[in-house]
Amino acid sequence: MDKLIIAPSVLAADFANLQKETMMLNASKAEWIHIDVMDGVFVPNISFGFPVLQAIKKHTSKFLDVHLMIEKPERFLKQFADSGANMITVHLEACPHIHRTIQEIKDLGCLAGIAINPGTPVSLLKDVINDIDLVLIMSVNPGFGGQKFISHAVNKVREAKSMIQLTGRSIYLEVDGGVALNNAESLIEAGANVLVAGSFVFSSANPQETISQLLHLAD
Ligand code: DX5
Ligand code: ZN
Repeated sequence: MDKLIIAPSVLAADFANLQKETMMLNASKAEWIHIDVMDGVFVPNISFGFPVLQAIKKHTSKFLDVHLMIEKPERFLKQFADSGANMITVHLEACPHIHRTIQEIKDLGCLAGIAINPGTPVSLLKDVINDIDLVLIMSVNPGFGGQKFISHAVNKVREAKSMIQLTGRSIYLEVDGGVALNNAESLIEAGANVLVAGSFVFSSANPQETISQLLHLAD
């Protein structure tokens, strides 16, 4: 699984033109669409929930990568699965019974991911790495788009990559927050194979071209 995947985050899209934005992504080289759900408790911001996910699902067959920045995500897993999620990623910091949560995601027929905040060490993934499909290294403190990339994330990606290699399994290694052309190359070199990009894609003059540029870094 060395192919690079770009996952544009619709948090940075024009919500009043969500259908148009989704169609734009459909015609782009992005394989995944990243969906940021925030509850105003786990993170200091509220984004959107099921109706928006359902609306996007209606207009795309792309893989929907749902990033739950919410407390007690186990309360809502079925609704996210029913709303069209393909991957459900929960925060390690938000889940006291993480194995149960992961199992519930899988039982719903979705892939299961775990995200860790910039202040959470990669080593805490050791006892769950064999049970998950994706590791998400946050390169900003979650809650907002357009924040500055925390460069220590590159070291964490490298560490997570070694941990993944030891499992002998294919596990996606995703990075989220402040990703742009000036840091993407070092992330790929460190082992990341899914790059989330919100503002860098949507505030560029030509988002499709920007997605292609990110993708070509892996050539
Ligand atoms: C941050 C979200 C990110 C965000 C990325 O809390 O999880 O997915 O949308 O946005 P940029 O790429 O603008 O940092
Ligand atoms: Zn995200």
